[in-house]
Amino acid sequence: MSDDEIKSFPEKKRMFYPPRKFVEQANLRDPSVYSRATSEEGWEIFWEDFAKDLEWIVPWEKFIDTSNIPFYKFFVGGRINVSYNCIDRHLETKRNKAAIIWEGEPEGETRVLTYQDLYREVSKFANVLKSLGVGKGDRVAIYLPMIPELPIAMLACARIGAVHSVVFAGFSSQALAARIDDAKAKILITCDGYYRRGKIIDQKARADEALKHLKEAEIDHIIVAKRAENEVVFSEKDLWWHEVVMDSSQKCTVEKMDAEDMHFIIYTSGTTGKPKGVVHTVGGYLVYAYATTKTIFDLKENDIYWCTADIGWITGHTYIVYGPLSNGATILMYEGAPDTPHKGRFWEIIEKHHVTIFYTAPTAIRLFMKWGEKYLENYDLKSLRLLGSVGEPINPEAWWWYHNNIGGGNCPIVDTWWQTETGGAVITPLPSLTPLKPGSATKPFPGIFVDVFNEKGEPTKPGERGYLVIKRPWPGMLRTLFKDPERYVSTYWSRYGKEIYFSGDAAKKDEDGYIWVIGRVDDAIKVAGHRLSTMEIESAVLEVKNVAEAAVVTRPHEIKGNEIVIYVTPKEGVEADEEMGKKVILHIREAIGAIATPGLVVFTSDLPKTRSGKIMRRILRAIASKDEIGDLSTLANPEIVETLDNSVKRGVSGVIIAG
Ligand code: WTA
Repeated sequence: MSDDEIKSFPEKKRMFYPPRKFVEQANLRDPSVYSRATSEEGWEIFWEDFAKDLEWIVPWEKFIDTSNIPFYKFFVGGRINVSYNCIDRHLETKRNKAAIIWEGEPEGETRVLTYQDLYREVSKFANVLKSLGVGKGDRVAIYLPMIPELPIAMLACARIGAVHSVVFAGFSSQALAARIDDAKAKILITCDGYYRRGKIIDQKARADEALKHLKEAEIDHIIVAKRAENEVVFSEKDLWWHEVVMDSSQKCTVEKMDAEDMHFIIYTSGTTGKPKGVVHTVGGYLVYAYATTKTIFDLKENDIYWCTADIGWITGHTYIVYGPLSNGATILMYEGAPDTPHKGRFWEIIEKHHVTIFYTAPTAIRLFMKWGEKYLENYDLKSLRLLGSVGEPINPEAWWWYHNNIGGGNCPIVDTWWQTETGGAVITPLPSLTPLKPGSATKPFPGIFVDVFNEKGEPTKPGERGYLVIKRPWPGMLRTLFKDPERYVSTYWSRYGKEIYFSGDAAKKDEDGYIWVIGRVDDAIKVAGHRLSTMEIESAVLEVKNVAEAAVVTRPHEIKGNEIVIYVTPKEGVEADEEMGKKVILHIREAIGAIATPGLVVFTSDLPKTRSGKIMRRILRAIASKDEIGDLSTLANPEIVETLDNSVKRGVSGVIIAG
């Protein structure tokens, strides 16, 4: 959020205090939790108390090992199984409680899995994986949409110690192939198809296509869940999920995992074209997911908890699967789009299932705002008691709209800042204890040490812009980048030395110590809350025939927060036209997926460059955003700026040929 945006909004200063009714029933009521968790004597105890709620096969000997930083270890010597803690641990008291309530996109379609059902399905599937030769440490790629088979497959991997790499179902075949290759997965789990906006997406065909692009990995089997009953082509490698589980035993002993064994890999975009394989381990991640879910969402036995993220992203891993299930909660999972078959679909689902906690992204809230309140009128949302926001800064206007219209003016909103790398929320209110300032993620979670540093590594003064850092390790943090420990050190632990985690975000603190996140400072971008990399998109554009150079920037977008703008120079002698623009767009969709579709493609004979030939992305961003362009004195070719500026001013979206 820019300063102007913050200033221009009159309600920016208005604080929202937790309503008495909420506080009275809250799990956490003692504000001393903050000081205890950050005190020298209390820090380890704070985390260890949460860890003690879980069931360990062998208790840990030491909370943290700092002998080889930044390769930290937590719960050293402990042995634990994630699947056991998310399922078996609850059977005695919650056997018949709904673990997953699933709502398909076609109306009326619902599936409910109790904890006993989940136990049976996970164990059966875990035995299938074992019978196919999957063992501890082996990687399993999962390319599934939002159907119950996705958490079942993840928990089955965790049960036998296999490492899952879930790839967002909306990623393209090529993006899937790159991730399978890097992880060297040997099994791929997908489905025939699924529903999205009333259409069936042919997921199996996309999975098959991915196999053709593999360079290093070899997939032994594809396990295909039946969802949409669309026609699929089957080869000998392919197995139907429902057939292989049929005779599989529902007893599957759990693997005794070391706390620091690998739990999963999740790929996220970085500063080069190649996605980074963020590694999370078993013990620390689970404790972190458990602790943050329990406290931030004030979870209770009767809650119906709905996080609208896709499990293919970290938010879904932590706050749909591992956090809520380790707490024995009931989660709601929805397969489809918010406007299918009508724009009141989310509210209808909240009413239908009596959802009490609702956690979504600012992009979605802005979309609902644009659609208007009329879609809310027919639904009773009074079951809601707590709202959440994640993935990008929420503008105060959207915050108040969410608060008043969805929350009926009395639900706290937990605006949670975190990253794929942090494993769970790091800056967030505790809904019963932290007064809220709309637009700010407020304060660090207890036991976490966050600051904003200037270039020199000193804490900034209130109101000064700087870089968001974390000054002490925490159990949920990533442990390394898969097969690339050097990149782990250079990306996160070099800017301010090996003891300070560099987040890649710019932020400010205010006079009250509240944190206001501004956004990314590296090549990662956030489009509709999805994290993408400008470099990854640029390398895709460079693969298009007759493209000489490309530069990818973003400009502000009313709903998506940011939108992608691409500047392309064609090769000498090539005349760019609408057709070539379409090719660029199509290729990006093939290389990455529809989420990376640009809002604008600008063809130009030249890009603004410094005398040493570096593309000035700052200027391209200003042109795209229609901002002040600023100083051009370092440019080798300042004349191109005016041409570009005039053309972009004329065009709105689509393809523009500048000049
Ligand atoms: C941004 C998503 C402001 C931030 C969980 C971060 C946020 C990036 C917020 C990580 C928030 C996430 N307010 N910005 N509440 N939450 N971000 O890895 O720029 O997909 O670095 O993890 O999202 O995105 P990622």
